[in-house]
Amino acid sequence: MLNFEFQNPTKIIFGKGQIAKLAKEIPQNAKILMTYGLGSIFKNGVYDQVKAALANHTIIEFGGIEANPTFETLIKAVEIAKTEQIDFILAVGGGSVIDGSKFISAAILYEGDSWEILTKQIRTTKGIPLGTVLTLPATGTEMNSGAVISRKATQEKFGMGGPGLFPVFSILDPEVVQSVPERQIRNGIIDAYTHVMEQYCTYPIGAGLQDRIAESILLTLQEIAPKIMQNPADYTAAADFMWCCTMALNGLIQKGVPSDWATHGIGHELTAFYGLDHAVTLSIIIPNLYTVQFEKKKEKLAQYGERVWGITEGTVEEKAKQAIQKMIEFLNSLGVSTKLSDHVEAGFEDTGARIEERFIARNWKLGEHRDITPDVARRIVEMSY
Ligand code: NZQ
Ligand code: ZN
Repeated sequence: MLNFEFQNPTKIIFGKGQIAKLAKEIPQNAKILMTYGLGSIFKNGVYDQVKAALANHTIIEFGGIEANPTFETLIKAVEIAKTEQIDFILAVGGGSVIDGSKFISAAILYEGDSWEILTKQIRTTKGIPLGTVLTLPATGTEMNSGAVISRKATQEKFGMGGPGLFPVFSILDPEVVQSVPERQIRNGIIDAYTHVMEQYCTYPIGAGLQDRIAESILLTLQEIAPKIMQNPADYTAAADFMWCCTMALNGLIQKGVPSDWATHGIGHELTAFYGLDHAVTLSIIIPNLYTVQFEKKKEKLAQYGERVWGITEGTVEEKAKQAIQKMIEFLNSLGVSTKLSDHVEAGFEDTGARIEERFIARNWKLGEHRDITPDVARRIVEMSY
């Protein structure tokens, strides 16, 4: 195991009916900016629950944060928050609303052009305090300090973060899952699954507990996937689904181990170019990334095959190859194709070259060995057409 430090200050309030506890978590005299997305919270009763819980608080609302939240939208909220002298942000939504709110939290206190937070990779050590009511299990943003923000004008999508951006609290009520459309449930499962793989499927480092926690999240996701896809109102499955997603990216399984994140790095470009759902981009990239990086990942792939898929026969190479195949079958069983051409109708033939060009300009070398150089990224993308 590698040396590590671990601190996660986010208080999790988990379970049925917990949104009613909101008032206790936010100072009574706070002026709250309540952020949300394109309207799902009005249809599923979450908005009413939040407003009822905060009946005696001062709230200014900012709705309209879109999936893959954009700088263009968020900067309007920053202006409002500054004018109104907001001192608490309450994000009510999925990863996009929460990520967008993290940007708002950082940008309010940032002096200068706030897009620099993304382009200059400014770590936020202090933001406006943020609480969340999660409505969509997927990203883990409810218990981590990262965010991913897009800019429409330049077709860019970048990560940001820093210790000042952990939510103070997050309310996780699995009952919210019942209104989530099938496509977003599928996306949530894939995103959490890939988060675990990015932190697990590297090379052996002798971190036995970390490996087994990671494997249990994968096994639990595989077990609940068909149940929750079929019936999002299955509370037992929804509770496991929600907690898996949080545990997949709250920092715990990343400690003491190398991590990859190249699938995410390349995938973000596909969203930036074509507006594809985050999870779709991961499904397109991950199988080919593992094929290209096979020699360096085969031991962990074989372990994944043995422990997660019960593959007992064959050499390390054979088990590792079967494991990649099992992973593709799992993605397909959720109804997602792993080919770019099934998601973008035409004009994608230069995608690999465009990504290579961008990664050269940014001097990016990805993966746990930093050996996914721009040309390797291009090869992975071109294999995914
Ligand atoms: O906008 P509304 O109307 O709320 O509808 C949303 C949206 O259309 C809907 N939805 C959410 N909760 C619902 C619901 N519909 C019905 N019932 C509910 N209870 O779902 C749609 C998608 O929402 P979104 O927030 O975009 O999805 P997700 O949570 O998957 O977030 C994706 C974003 O998170 C980033 C992604 O890149 C992407 O921008 N990520 C953030 C990470 C982080 N901060 O740690 C890590 C991830 O790897 C990821 O990159
Ligand atoms: Zn992700």
